[in-house]
Amino acid sequence: MINIAIDGPAGSGKSTLAKNIAKEFNILYLDTGAMYRTIALAMKQNNIDVNNEKLVVEHLNKVNLEIKYINSAQHVFLDGVDVSKDIRANEISMLASTVSKIKLVRKKLVEMQRKIASQNDCVLDGRDIGTYVLPSAALKIFLIATPEVRAKRRKEELAQNGIEVEYDDLLNEIKARDLQDSTRSFAPLKKADDAIEIDTSNNTIEDTFKQAVNLASKFFK
Ligand code: DC
Repeated sequence: MINIAIDGPAGSGKSTLAKNIAKEFNILYLDTGAMYRTIALAMKQNNIDVNNEKLVVEHLNKVNLEIKYINSAQHVFLDGVDVSKDIRANEISMLASTVSKIKLVRKKLVEMQRKIASQNDCVLDGRDIGTYVLPSAALKIFLIATPEVRAKRRKEELAQNGIEVEYDDLLNEIKARDLQDSTRSFAPLKKADDAIEIDTSNNTIEDTFKQAVNLASKFFK
């Protein structure tokens, strides 16, 4: 199977690029951040403090997370309920980052991710795809952008969904999440040695897409 890994910090343009790549080469897109977000939502719904590792791990076995593709779009289900919209609430971002520090949470999700990647040609986006989930992926791309650009993008994205959040709050949150995601002990956010870095700060969506298509096209002949 051909697997493409796209990693990078929040707001670097991973999901936009991954969706476009999936469409271009007619392969599956697996948004792994959505999986961590779903675990975070499950904990929130059960009033479990995501900082309390013991309680999170105890509840983890009861979390029934499923991934389904509807008209080629990934949907996440929690106990049979489609929560794809609920996981996009802004407060879930930081909860997901915190819950993702827990090793057993990562183990559970990484196992699902590897299974999907072993059965499908796919592009996966996340933080640790190139370094930990699929170290032998055909192509690894690491996207970066300045925190200011990323906060601006996040503001626009949330506004499109009718959610207004102050730019300064988003900037602070992005910096806090970068720090937490890149300093955790197990499978942190990190560029793989063999990943190709693209700085999207001054790129249009099309610029980044073209660069990535150039890199990926040789695998789809
Ligand atoms: O990509 P995102 O913003 O939806 O991800 C939410 C959080 O999930 C992110 O801050 C860290 C965590 N995450 C992770 O640890 N590993 C991944 N492969 C994907 C996301």
